[in-house]
Amino acid sequence: MPDNAARLLIRGGTVLDPAQGLNDRRDVLVADGKVAAVEAGLDGHPDARDARVIDATGRVVVPGFIDLHVHLREPGFEHKEDIASGSRAAAAGGFTTVVCMPNTQPVLDTRVAIEEVRRRARHVGLVNVLPAGTVTKGSRGEELAELGDMREGGAVLFTDDGVPVRNAEVMRCALEYGRSFGVPIGQHAEDPDLSAGGVMHLGAVSSRLGLRGIPSASEASVVARDALLAGLTGGHLHVLHVSAAETVEFVRWAKARGIRVTAEVAPHHLILTDEAVRDSGYDTNTKVNPPLRSEADRRALLDGLRDGTIDAIATDHAPHHVDDKDVEYDLAAFGISGLETAVAALLTYLVGPGTLPLSLVVEKLTAGPARVLGLDKGSLRPGADADLTVLDLEREWVVNPERFYSKGRNTPLAGRRLVGGPVLTVVGGRVVMEEGRVRSSGVSTPEGLYRYA
Ligand code: DOR
Repeated sequence: MPDNAARLLIRGGTVLDPAQGLNDRRDVLVADGKVAAVEAGLDGHPDARDARVIDATGRVVVPGFIDLHVHLREPGFEHKEDIASGSRAAAAGGFTTVVCMPNTQPVLDTRVAIEEVRRRARHVGLVNVLPAGTVTKGSRGEELAELGDMREGGAVLFTDDGVPVRNAEVMRCALEYGRSFGVPIGQHAEDPDLSAGGVMHLGAVSSRLGLRGIPSASEASVVARDALLAGLTGGHLHVLHVSAAETVEFVRWAKARGIRVTAEVAPHHLILTDEAVRDSGYDTNTKVNPPLRSEADRRALLDGLRDGTIDAIATDHAPHHVDDKDVEYDLAAFGISGLETAVAALLTYLVGPGTLPLSLVVEKLTAGPARVLGLDKGSLRPGADADLTVLDLEREWVVNPERFYSKGRNTPLAGRRLVGGPVLTVVGGRVVMEEGRVRSSGVSTPEGLYRYA
């Protein structure tokens, strides 16, 4: 039976689907790209005939993970990543849907650019790639881009990520327009005057190391302003990569008042702190924007996940070429290649020790992000798209960036032993990753030209 069989019977696993409150032993039957049934003992089901049977005994079957924040770098930076290599990395990491950021070259600020990314992603055909468009033309922060047009072309989020929308009036207009199109405005919250020249979190560690710091107020002050603007306009503000305790406070404050604010947090901010900069011996793979912050911030982020202040975990997968990282700390590019380690790192450092329950982590990777964008995904309800992931909670592996599908080898987790991770990824009923091997559908080249097998 070919591995893209129209029917799959995933048998004997524990189905964990937070959207349905389900955490029990069940079979999952997939037919024609949809979830046909989730029940115990589906062997006799008429659709199970001719189905490819996958044994999931001892494993956990979850809705496919949705990542609200990845950088696929195409067009323009194909030496760092392209849609094919990024799609493979997503499939390897258990992600079935990714939202790709528009800080490409040129930036995605027109309908035609949005449609082109979608076309290329469909051609690669591994995971669902949903593009974000910029808020402003050229991400210059001055004039709104054609938001309605990009929405028509399939943009699911508007953001100038990489840089903030600095001008409050531009942000107010963006929230107003975003509301009328039903699309959230994602803010990369950073005050460029406060962060200028900074390379890590401003605190005791940066002082001791003599590195220029980025204060938490750089992020939190922008979020406070934007929460007020979301309240003023009724628009939906989505706060990207929350890193600071104060930001969690402002998002909590806004939610309590019924203001439409949602927030995401990256795995690296949940598991690492600014001490990693020192302990790694200035490994430039710890350099990320917003920066790894203090232990108190990390704990506040965990609390934010627990009480619902933070809606989603998103990788901020930011692949870079070795030439961008193999330089002095001050000069290195910001960013961590995260798609292939995110789930395993969350399982190892947060679920394993009991810091967060598995069901909460799965919720923040499935139903949570689906709600942020209003996507009809993130659950294994019968009739839903058959996007699912199977986890093996016991699988042990050592992170070896040389074996990444991503072109970005820039991870601070190289050499770490992780326990647990995705072993099967199914998108629209097609197996795209099995036991770590991703289906070959496209071959990417440094030029970003495609040859298809
Ligand atoms: O670390 C980061 N890298 N933060 C950003 O906001 C942008 C991203 C990138 O594009 O490399």
